[in-house]
Amino acid sequence: MSAGPRGDITHRVLPSDVNHLGTLFGGRLLEWMDGAAEIAAARYARRVVVTVAMEQVVFTQPVQVGDLVRIEAAIDRIGRTSIRVQVTAWRELTDGTAVIACAARLTFVALDASGRPVPVRGACPDADAPQAAETSPSSPA
Ligand SMILES: CC(C)(COP(=O)(O)OP(=O)(O)OC[C@H]1O[C@@H](n2cnc3c(N)ncnc32)[C@H](O)[C@@H]1OP(=O)(O)O)[C@@H](O)C(=O)NCCC(=O)NCCS
Repeated sequence: MSAGPRGDITHRVLPSDVNHLGTLFGGRLLEWMDGAAEIAAARYARRVVVTVAMEQVVFTQPVQVGDLVRIEAAIDRIGRTSIRVQVTAWRELTDGTAVIACAARLTFVALDASGRPVPVRGACPDADAPQAAETSPSSPA
């Protein structure tokens, strides 16, 4: 488990989440990943944060209806007003094995009450040295 705030969440893939091929719609997965990453970033900033960039998105495995998708979101860089979060989505099979379905790097900006970027460094003293996301899934949610 990496240090610092995280935003791990797990979803069950339902029929309403799939595309015309019957596999998880990529846009839905990105929505879930954005949500998980926002939780990690907001926990660090202790403020409202907004997504400014979603980069290096790679889909590596299709996900089927009924699968669990475990999303791990860990902070990997603190800027002046921005927080970058590495996100990995794991497809969990019924037998407990897991494979990476998607990975991405998201950047958030903390905002003040007027909606302007505000410094975040040191906002979360417990997370001085946040680590990158792990390469194997954590224990089940
Ligand atoms: C986020 C937003 C407030 C930033 O405004 P801005 O005028 O670009 O602010 P700044 O130029 O001061 O940049 C703020 C930070 O964002 C970073 N940033 C800006 N554009 C970026 C990009 N394309 N990729 C990565 N980081 C970026 C800057 O590097 C800076 O980080 P730092 O302070 O850690 O160095 C503005 O772009 C915005 O409101 N975007 C829409 C957000 C939104 O609606 N998201 C979807 C819903 S959550």
